[in-house]
Amino acid sequence: MAAPSRADFPLPRAGVSVTLPLFGYRTNSLRAAKRRLRRIMMAKSILHVEVNGRAREDAVADNLLLIDYLREVVGLTGTKMGCDGGECGACTVLVDGRPRLSCIALAHAVAGRRVETVEGAATGGRLSRVQRAFHERLGSQCGYCTPGMIMAAEGLLRRDPNPGEAEIRRALSGNICRCTGYVKIIEAVRAAAQGGMR
Ligand code: FES
Ligand code: FES
Repeated sequence: MAAPSRADFPLPRAGVSVTLPLFGYRTNSLRAAKRRLRRIMMAKSILHVEVNGRAREDAVADNLLLIDYLREVVGLTGTKMGCDGGECGACTVLVDGRPRLSCIALAHAVAGRRVETVEGAATGGRLSRVQRAFHERLGSQCGYCTPGMIMAAEGLLRRDPNPGEAEIRRALSGNICRCTGYVKIIEAVRAAAQGGMR
């Protein structure tokens, strides 16, 4: 069975209509549609969601994108905006443990779900195995793509603890890095998978 796309979002459990009218647009049209969406003043409703293990309850505009919610409401700026069009993976977060693109989903699409961002990867001040592997194997240069890479890799390793190179490449194929050439990134994920990093 084909792996689910990061653009697929869980349906909300109740009420709010969150199906982005954006899916299916080409990127330029998507960005334009999102600019229009961001300008519209919409009513707010309460969003219940778990972010990095903490239950939250926030009044959130019905048109607020998940990335804007995480960065501007929750204050977690580790999740990066790259293309703003569902193509670069910089905005990847985990929703119920699966990688998802936060730039093309409404915040209300994750009502009742568990969202994890790169800020939640470390525990007790200790970097996760994927974070340490990126650090030790020089998997990042400017670091802009790194949070999305780390969350995509984390999603992969939870689903497949011992992936081969082909699986790693497939899992990261939605993440664009403009600096590293990917070799070190793949090595980092393999090192994290093969142990010795945690
Ligand atoms: S910013 Fe979301 S995919 Fe590029
Ligand atoms: S490290 Fe710079 S974009 Fe990937």
